[in-house]
Amino acid sequence: MSIPDVTELTLEEKASLTSGASFWYTKPVERVGVPAVMVTDGPHGLRKQREGGDHLGIGDSVPATCFPPAVGLGSSWDVDLVHRVGEALGTETSIEGVAVLLGPGINIKRSPLCGRNFEYLSEDPIVSGVLGAAIVQGIQSKGVGTSLKHFAANNQENDRMRSSSDVDPRPLREIYLRGFQRVVEDAQPWTVMCSYNRINGVYASEDPWLLTQVLRDEWGFEGLVVSDWGAVNERVPGLAAGMDLEMPSSNGVTDAQIVAAVQDGSLDESVVDVAAGRVLDLVRKATEGSGAVAGPLDVDAHHALAREAAGRSIVLLKNDGGVLPLAKDAKLAVIGEFAEKPRYQGAGSSMINPTRLDTALDGIRALASGDVAYAQGFSNALEVSADETTALRDEAVAAASVADVALLFLGLPARLESEGYDRDDIDLPAAQLELVDAVLAANPNTVVVLSNGGVVSLPFADRVPAILEGWLLGQAGGGATADVLFGDVNPSAKLTETIPARLEDTPAFLDFPGEFSHTRYGEGLFVGYRWYDARRLEVAFPFGHGLSYTSFSYADAAAQVDASGDVEVTVAVTNTGDRAGREVVQVYTSLTGSTVQRAPRELKAFASIALEPGETQVVTLTVRRKDLAYWDIRADRWVVEGGEYTVDVAASSRDIRSSVAVTVEGDVLTLPLSRTSSMGEVLSHPVAGPVVQAAIAQMMGGLGDSAASIMPEGVDMSKMMESFPIGRIGMMGALAGDGAGAGPEMIDDLLAMANAPQQD
Ligand code: BGC
Repeated sequence: MSIPDVTELTLEEKASLTSGASFWYTKPVERVGVPAVMVTDGPHGLRKQREGGDHLGIGDSVPATCFPPAVGLGSSWDVDLVHRVGEALGTETSIEGVAVLLGPGINIKRSPLCGRNFEYLSEDPIVSGVLGAAIVQGIQSKGVGTSLKHFAANNQENDRMRSSSDVDPRPLREIYLRGFQRVVEDAQPWTVMCSYNRINGVYASEDPWLLTQVLRDEWGFEGLVVSDWGAVNERVPGLAAGMDLEMPSSNGVTDAQIVAAVQDGSLDESVVDVAAGRVLDLVRKATEGSGAVAGPLDVDAHHALAREAAGRSIVLLKNDGGVLPLAKDAKLAVIGEFAEKPRYQGAGSSMINPTRLDTALDGIRALASGDVAYAQGFSNALEVSADETTALRDEAVAAASVADVALLFLGLPARLESEGYDRDDIDLPAAQLELVDAVLAANPNTVVVLSNGGVVSLPFADRVPAILEGWLLGQAGGGATADVLFGDVNPSAKLTETIPARLEDTPAFLDFPGEFSHTRYGEGLFVGYRWYDARRLEVAFPFGHGLSYTSFSYADAAAQVDASGDVEVTVAVTNTGDRAGREVVQVYTSLTGSTVQRAPRELKAFASIALEPGETQVVTLTVRRKDLAYWDIRADRWVVEGGEYTVDVAASSRDIRSSVAVTVEGDVLTLPLSRTSSMGEVLSHPVAGPVVQAAIAQMMGGLGDSAASIMPEGVDMSKMMESFPIGRIGMMGALAGDGAGAGPEMIDDLLAMANAPQQD
């Protein structure tokens, strides 16, 4: 079937294409053979509703594999694994005849309180961008599309449909947009979903700067922009801004507005052509890709992949005395409701109806050869009486006291974190914290296993010998947890977000969730580890941290700038333990004496490598030159500052194994001079600098010894003059008392000469 060109459509038909037919379908244009296509959630599985539609995850949907949500999968830091999960997601999307899977979500985890953090990858834009690109490439390799969301600066749920994220240009570019830029440039998602919120006062759904200038003109986005469900504020300005497809249906109301605007001359028809043309392109791609994968779904194979991915998502936070891995014949007490009723995904639009569901208790029993007792420990019910709490605790203590090891499954009840609202705190429920103390008193060999979509504070971290951060692990998380506990899988995941010591220490603490529909991003660039490092704050577990059952040593790293300007970093890593394992090698950079504000250390590259016992591998990591750039607010563009960068090769943001210096040549940045330019700026200007330098020398010579005599010894005249605007320099002549100085004409001549186009 060939999809017609936009010129074959009437104005009404074109306008009709720019909004949905229903909750999940675009509109067909039957007259010219344009079919409707289906788009659906996402992101960590397919939520294809059988009938009707809602974006709250309420209605029934066809069974699909529930892979670990982003909070888990991202912790693998493994591009290949993430790509494979993407392929599997694409396969399921294709088999179900869906054109676009609505994901991934790559918003930055600005505050641990955001109710939707489980759907996002990291507090760092490189992690979000690199892994986001891998998911998109994996999914799209199966002939279906993705929707990169939520574009942009959508970092909280509170008041999400109105709130303005008030962000300065540098953090906006360097933190909040950088990941989106990476995914768009590297993976060309078929669609980008604009977010509900406003950015610096402008709705994302009607922001020409965001949707056209940045996304298309700067980054080269070739696909279609779709609104988040219900994100459209004013449709006609939105269309002109570059918001192509409104979802869900507007029942034709906004289509009529578009037609009327063209007819009364307030909207150029070419704008409608462009948007409708993009919808046609999407339909064309979907039609061409349709049927790329033949069903039926191999449920077992995808469940096995979900288990592998879940095993790679579990972070071993601590393991004192080698409590883990467990001996298979150990006598175990499994405690905690999550072991039996897993929390494996978050609430809201991303809720998948899984093909099957493993529990950790079953997984442990399947692998164990010794006794496995189970006690519920606490209740996640809304109302629990004091008597019931005590009885559950006593039962757990009794089980723990006769076991070799107590496995304590703690976590956040589902109601505490969801799309649509944020958390009030980062605490585990009090009954669970009390249970930890009681169980520890009965058995010091206690291992805590956590289920949570956003980070929780861990007041017991010093007292419990071993902690597994299990996040939300998808449908096979139960089996995967058992794999890690017994060492069938050697843990290799690392934190893509800091676990803070206290909520009060978190970067956005004073500015979250804002007030009167404005959220000021007051921490600026200092998001996540950038903040804790700059403030030298203690954290519970740092960004990038995660242990293994084996150990790794790093040799001295080397770094050099290659022909394209990228920095190639090489380091030999050795598995010094006695079992196979994976290590996530991280590269951070810093620039001492930078002219702009910077975090002490910024992640620039990473790699996940597999090593047999005793094996050494030389790893090469590329720090892309463009990732060294900061956003220069004067020139409104990326600039690489020249200088000697420190390259830290690390096992976590606070476990630097080798540091090496590399000299990077900077970009040439010649800013136009004006009367308000400072003497410092003028002196460093390639054309004006030498001229002014000579004039000053001449003037100082003319002053003879008198200049020196009026200044106290040690005063640096040039430093004093550095911030003096050149437009005011006429005063200098007055000071010198000779009536000369630099008159306004002389300064204007100098500026004109400096700003004239340079010839090579
Ligand atoms: C969510 C999106 C989702 C859409 C459709 C919205 O509420 O923010 O992530 O894709 O609903 O369900």
